[in-house]
Amino acid sequence: MKIIKNKSLKKINTFGIDISAKNLIIIKKEKDLFQLLNKTNKKIKILGGGSNILLTKKVKGILAKNEIKGIEIIAEDEETALVEIGAGENWHEFVLWAIQNNLGGVENLSLIPGTVGAAPIQNIGAYGVELKNVFEGLNFIDLETHEEIAFSKEACNFGYRNSIFKNELKNKFCITRVYLRLKKHPHTLNINYGIISKKIEEQKIKNPTIKNISDIIINIRQAKLPDPKKIGNSGSFFKNPEVSKKKWKKLKEKFPEIISYPLPNNQFKIPAAWLIDQCGFKGKKYGNTGCYKNQALVIVNYGNATGKEIKKFSKKVQKAVYKKFKIQIFPEVNIW
Ligand code: FAD
Ligand code: EPU
Repeated sequence: MKIIKNKSLKKINTFGIDISAKNLIIIKKEKDLFQLLNKTNKKIKILGGGSNILLTKKVKGILAKNEIKGIEIIAEDEETALVEIGAGENWHEFVLWAIQNNLGGVENLSLIPGTVGAAPIQNIGAYGVELKNVFEGLNFIDLETHEEIAFSKEACNFGYRNSIFKNELKNKFCITRVYLRLKKHPHTLNINYGIISKKIEEQKIKNPTIKNISDIIINIRQAKLPDPKKIGNSGSFFKNPEVSKKKWKKLKEKFPEIISYPLPNNQFKIPAAWLIDQCGFKGKKYGNTGCYKNQALVIVNYGNATGKEIKKFSKKVQKAVYKKFKIQIFPEVNIW
């Protein structure tokens, strides 16, 4: 196994931050990781596609980039197929594979960057669907005990942009395989999200297919979100906050135009993008960083930003939102 010393990570983090890892290792198979664990006592961090991290300092210890590949249907019945996917597979390429194989369930999650192995960590979601809707289980290697462990959906404790892997198990595991149950034709489409049904109508699509939905979502995303190859970013920088009904009523009195979505637990979700937008950050440049012109929730690197500069700017945004609305917003991005 080759250790690459002092490797710049600029090309493998979508923020495009030029910071290096002291020791970088590529994991192609489970046995590579077991070998590494037997050889070293150094701290190991796992990297997928680098699309949800902000690098603020040199990565010490060992950075293991997960490139475990493979997509295979391992069981099927009349209506569904159970698919095993290597954690290092690219998420969007997997979505395209599912569509090509006429398997439904992940089309709304088209064009989300990163790897399949990282998807359960924050229970990726978009356009009315979350990973947990198709999730069956996963395997991970415990970095402390070196055991290979299988987790069911229930064990993962999925929530909005949340799971056990961001809490109790944080930094203690490497996901190696993910199991998703996809639906054969006829598919169950998720078209309740306003903009999707609107596009279907506009395009006069009579019987939408999973490919139609995927294409629509790809178009929406390309119009709204910056392409990390052109402008560095990590998607939504913050999570959307939830407030109590009491708080929501007060906000509504003071800001009648506030956008909000009622949740089943008597809470209200307020789009962080709206809050940040109202504070005047949208499209403005602050040094090498700022909030994207089409989506205020996306903090961007205009070229030479450092991770520290972006982190400092994100704190300024958090403070401004708190000052105006008395709402705390928290990063979705993992700050390293
Ligand atoms: P990385 O950034 O490499 O890692 C993220 C975290 O997971 C790190 O803490 C890392 O240590 C850990 N990790 C990664 N792989 C493993 C593994 N195999 N085992 C253990 N730990 C691991 N997210 C959404 O939910 N919805 C969206 O709509 C969305 N849109 C986005 C749009 C853009 C333009 C961008 C840049 C990002 C977007 N994201 C979105 C965020 C991001 O794509 C997801 O969080 C994705 O799952 C991250 O995958 P990754 O492989 O790049 O993870
Ligand atoms: N809005 C503004 N100003 C803006 C942008 C949006 O006021 O600059 C308003 C919009 O009008 C809309 C609301 O905010 O009413 C929500 O905006 P949008 O539909 O773009 O969704 P979002 O809440 O900002 C979330 C996810 C995205 C996901 C989309 C689509 C989070 C933190 N983000 O964004 O996920 O793709 O919905 O489902 O939940 C990511 O996690 O990285 C990510 C991109």
